[in-house]
Amino acid sequence: MSAYQTPRKYANASDTAEATLGARLTRIDGPAKIRGAARYPLEYRPERMVHAVLVGSSIASGRVLDIDATAVEAAPGVLMVVTAENAPPLSKASDWLGNRPPEGTPFSPFATQVTFIGQPVAVVVAETFEQATEAARLLEVDYESGDAVAGLDDARAAPGAEAPGSNKGWGDAEAALAAAPVRIEHEYGTPREYQAPMELHGGIAAWDGDRLTIWQPSQWLDGMARTYAEWFGIPFENVRIVSPYLGGGFGSKGFCYPHDAIAPMVAKMLGRPVKLALTRPQTFELVGGRAATRQTIALGATHEGRLLSLVQRGASESSIEGTWVEAVAAATTLYYDVPNLATRQEIVRVNSVMPGAKRAPGKAPSAFGIECAIDELAHELGMDPLEIRLLNYAEEDPEARKPWSTRRLREAFEAGAGAFGWSRRNPEPRSMRDGRQLIGWGMGVGTFPVIRAASEAMVEVRADGIEVRSSTVDMGQGAYTILAQAAAEVFGLPESAVTVTLGDSRLPRAGVTGGSRMANAMVAAVHKAATAARDELVELANGDPGSPFRDLQANTLTVAAGRVGSPLGGGRDMSIGDFLAAVGRDGVEATRDTLAEHGLKPEDAYANYTTVATGLPPTAGDYSMHSWCAHFVEVRVDEDFGTVRVSRVVSAFDCGRLYNPKLAESQWKGGIMMGIGQALLEQSIIDPRNARMMNANFGDYLMPTNADIPDIEVISVGVPDPHASALGGKGVGELGIVGVAPAIANAVFHATGKRVRELPITLEKLI
Ligand code: MOS
Repeated sequence: MSAYQTPRKYANASDTAEATLGARLTRIDGPAKIRGAARYPLEYRPERMVHAVLVGSSIASGRVLDIDATAVEAAPGVLMVVTAENAPPLSKASDWLGNRPPEGTPFSPFATQVTFIGQPVAVVVAETFEQATEAARLLEVDYESGDAVAGLDDARAAPGAEAPGSNKGWGDAEAALAAAPVRIEHEYGTPREYQAPMELHGGIAAWDGDRLTIWQPSQWLDGMARTYAEWFGIPFENVRIVSPYLGGGFGSKGFCYPHDAIAPMVAKMLGRPVKLALTRPQTFELVGGRAATRQTIALGATHEGRLLSLVQRGASESSIEGTWVEAVAAATTLYYDVPNLATRQEIVRVNSVMPGAKRAPGKAPSAFGIECAIDELAHELGMDPLEIRLLNYAEEDPEARKPWSTRRLREAFEAGAGAFGWSRRNPEPRSMRDGRQLIGWGMGVGTFPVIRAASEAMVEVRADGIEVRSSTVDMGQGAYTILAQAAAEVFGLPESAVTVTLGDSRLPRAGVTGGSRMANAMVAAVHKAATAARDELVELANGDPGSPFRDLQANTLTVAAGRVGSPLGGGRDMSIGDFLAAVGRDGVEATRDTLAEHGLKPEDAYANYTTVATGLPPTAGDYSMHSWCAHFVEVRVDEDFGTVRVSRVVSAFDCGRLYNPKLAESQWKGGIMMGIGQALLEQSIIDPRNARMMNANFGDYLMPTNADIPDIEVISVGVPDPHASALGGKGVGELGIVGVAPAIANAVFHATGKRVRELPITLEKLI
């Protein structure tokens, strides 16, 4: 059947309009993935492709003295060994804010001065992966080893420098704390955590003259294309990145790491396509995870539970050479109406790869501090944890002093607590049990900012259906589906009439799929482009000599259910395909961006799509815009063994309008699962003697599996937020993890009477 033929369930055109954007559709890319027909970037196989295997430093700090590749070069199949010695010079690229180093600043992906274990010192290229792997073992590297800083608490760490922008607050927090009738103060810590996507990191690079193609799992094609162009000194337009599907990213595939330069470098040297996929251990060593954090939170309050002061002192890790701030105050300043607040954070340099973005950077560890602290205060005062949150409810943004665009956190409390049965909670710790299982109930609040960003999409209307194209990516969250829904809505068609092509940087540009901004930016761009294409159909209907509607006014025409019609103009009516034939066109197309809606000009487009500098923060304008949620959790703790099981989760979310509730719920549940991992399992274990991660594999870096996950009930309490985005949505993807770990820690305290302030909550901390 033609794509425009309307399935029976959509036969009524007015139902169709309601049934597309906002419908609970299953992912349209699902069948291709299930059948193995979806081709992931690292599965491409350009002709004459060879394999590269990285050799990483075996020491965390020091100097490479000598590399002997004699045995490697004699091994079967080996084509090349590249080190800092024989690597061609590259240029240093801009950072993700677009700050460009001075022309000619050199860059090498190979280290001579080493600052972390696994840092690339050489690459071995061979005809097969097995040959390259075997030969790489034969490389002899001599080092001069220096002292390494293993982590935040290492005595060898230099005093932390103040994190840029972290020293802030209002009122006189220290004085108000000193004068407060009730005070608590505790330290909370989170370990180094990893994104751990199933799909490995890496890329396949192929040159054609000075044109470079890279098949690489990526959350940001245009940003990465800029980096490659600057490294290799070629025009941006000469770089093509292909990433139609992602096997998980969670923030780890948002920008290039230095090792990404190696495949294109050796591909150029050899004149053959080169594939370099990291091994699983290398994904832990070479891709920055969430930095370890610690924070001290002091709360001052009245005996009735009104907050008077909040003082926070935090620290987080960064690498020796790069600065990443895992902002421990990201949630702290937003949650409660507190008249005096002071916060500051230090950056401690450790011998690790530069940390990076993991789902809800800053917000997740930040919420662990404030949401445990408020629970501790409630316990101190004999108050219910929900009651103390309502008493200190922030009616406006306490830091920006701006009204919330929407903040349905009260509604989330009510819906979540109601569905969970919170009112039946006995406040006394160790008051509930089931045999040898201690039962505890805890809660926690989550937040994530709305980041407004521009994007670009093309919509083409052809005789056989609608095409949507953009270089944005579907990282598994459902972009293909909601963009089909957005275009279908405009034409009054089912989503099956729409083909969506994403994940190729030759397509219209898009910014990073990160910071939970993609759905709002892209749905708006597609809707705008589709509307423009529909307008062009109407124009043709009015003005084209071949149009059967030529004598009618534009306002008597409709484009719906795949047909051009004139219900007010005598009832003439025909399919879009027949109409296009009548006017002698193959189709109409429109490319639109959402730059203007964000105060950006067309000349900003390159910076907008290749940097994160132009995204609008949540408080730009008259409102403060954030998504919100409340988690209610039940745990069961084995009294003898100290094992913790999460047995029930009910969470209520305010993410504004949902473009597809089924997919949003799936994101929320995924975030909650990741929060369960953060609370109970995930931690990078570092050997304090040599700064080596001891569990850099999926056997020892523990993450929740199906057996660890209970039934999770999620509830939407959002309403369309017209300030947050053109079509009323707020951010969805990252919010779910925020507030889960403290809800679990609070539940564990309620079950056992024991407070664990250092994640993860493992059994030895409970016994
Ligand atoms: Mo996200 S951590 O912005 O992919």
